[in-house]
Amino acid sequence: MPTRHADLRRYLTGIDTTTTQQVFTDCLVIGAGIAGLRAALEAGESGSVMLVCKGTFSDSNTWNAQGGIASVLAAEDSFDSHVEDTLATGCGLCDRGVVERVVKEGPALIHQLDAWGTMFDRVEGHIDIGREGGHSHARIIHSRGDSTGRAIAEALVRKARQTPTIHIMENFFTIDLLTDDSGRCIGAIGLKPSGSLQIIWAGATVLATGGAGRLYRETTNPDCATADGHAMAYRAGAVLRDMEFMQFHPTTLYIAGASRALVTETLRGEGAILRDAGGEAFMKAYHPSAELAPRDVVSRAILDRMLKTKTTHVYLDIRHFDKAHFQRRFPLISELCESFDIDVSADLIPVRPSAHYMIGGVKTDVAAATTVPGLFACGEVASTGLHGANRLGSNSLLEGLVYGKLAGRSAAAWVKAGHRAEHRRMVVEIPVSDRSRLDAEDVRNALRALMWRNVGITRQAQPLVEAQEIIRFWQRYVMDKVFAAPFGWECQNMLTVALQMAQSALQRQESRGVHYRQDFAERDDSTFGKHIEVSREGV
Ligand code: FUM
Repeated sequence: MPTRHADLRRYLTGIDTTTTQQVFTDCLVIGAGIAGLRAALEAGESGSVMLVCKGTFSDSNTWNAQGGIASVLAAEDSFDSHVEDTLATGCGLCDRGVVERVVKEGPALIHQLDAWGTMFDRVEGHIDIGREGGHSHARIIHSRGDSTGRAIAEALVRKARQTPTIHIMENFFTIDLLTDDSGRCIGAIGLKPSGSLQIIWAGATVLATGGAGRLYRETTNPDCATADGHAMAYRAGAVLRDMEFMQFHPTTLYIAGASRALVTETLRGEGAILRDAGGEAFMKAYHPSAELAPRDVVSRAILDRMLKTKTTHVYLDIRHFDKAHFQRRFPLISELCESFDIDVSADLIPVRPSAHYMIGGVKTDVAAATTVPGLFACGEVASTGLHGANRLGSNSLLEGLVYGKLAGRSAAAWVKAGHRAEHRRMVVEIPVSDRSRLDAEDVRNALRALMWRNVGITRQAQPLVEAQEIIRFWQRYVMDKVFAAPFGWECQNMLTVALQMAQSALQRQESRGVHYRQDFAERDDSTFGKHIEVSREGV
């Protein structure tokens, strides 16, 4: 049974259907990374689709993905091997059926993506396949070197733009999912780029809003990753699962004042070495696989070294790389380093870990259906059961592709079964609170610092309890406000989800995958070999 909480109102904005603009669609897709785009293309084969995203297409984790997408393409590789690697990394919490499905359906969808114009990089006519930590075989494919995500997104966007049934609206901020008296999702309300509210009545709704990295001070994620989808699904009554599992990426470029940019793990796959401030290559002391150890191990090792050497970062050493090859294979990172006058053949690259991928999310069944009828979820916002307690690198783009298609297909089937977009009379009044003045930016910054400190790479009971108390205190004077712009709604969403993350992390009194408790350092299968679920009280 999920733990139930009653800590916020149902809608963030007032609603009045007599005065608000309205449109109708068979399927509403919220979010335009790989999962949302793939869902829209699938649903668009049998009905009308509205595809909305809060920024532009380039504001997604997909667009920024560097390393690549994992799939069984090499002759010496096998589905069984990819399945076993995923299960081993997931530390006992993966759903084997989901893992098998994603792994087996991957190659055909990758070839389709290639044919749609992603054009994965090739060597002598064959798709080039690289290695990453945790994978027993080379199975990471890439495009335009380290611009894989962008190449995938551009191909999907092009295809979506050519599909007459798909209507695209960028810069549409979805505020809330709408539900009827029976709890069924019937669309959403949001803010159009023009600044007016709009209701989108939908037969089926697909949530593909991405992640939650922006809840942390240090993150690889773009500004848009404020957990809006997790929060709106929670308000609509959906069960969230595994919210304690935030994956930290070991190597983010660390230059004070510069935005944190991912330095892909593929570099370590190709021989990059981690060194501490004294120049020591330290990873062998932490794990036999050294630089190719699982991400959580590498992140904690770096943190430990930072503490021991009293420094804010460690270094990635690629001075031994062939510079011309590096520039060709990793054009993004090459440009990034040059922009900070880092000559990779002479200088070390300063890096430290940061929040990267939200493993927990809106619980779905094998067909991408959430616990709210009419609402489907895919991509980072979803908890499908693929990743378990730790995500194998480059499995997420694959999941977005397979589950995006599945969510689109399930949504289309839901509409076909008779669930049509219909106008409803809805009036939701929210009293304006003038109880206190608010600096939402200050709250957001303070929350991000708190999450980094207290709900970060290593955790303990007392800081987690403190985090909850502080978040609850902030909620008292943030959640009663009625905002008119995304910055405030995002702040409310961030607080809602942060609390669930801190509570779930406190509840899981063991260490498993990306969740490391200093006060419960061992894995405890007998008590915690299961998921932690949360939902709102009374739904
Ligand atoms: O290091 C990377 O390129 C990250 C890959 C991933 O998060 O899957």
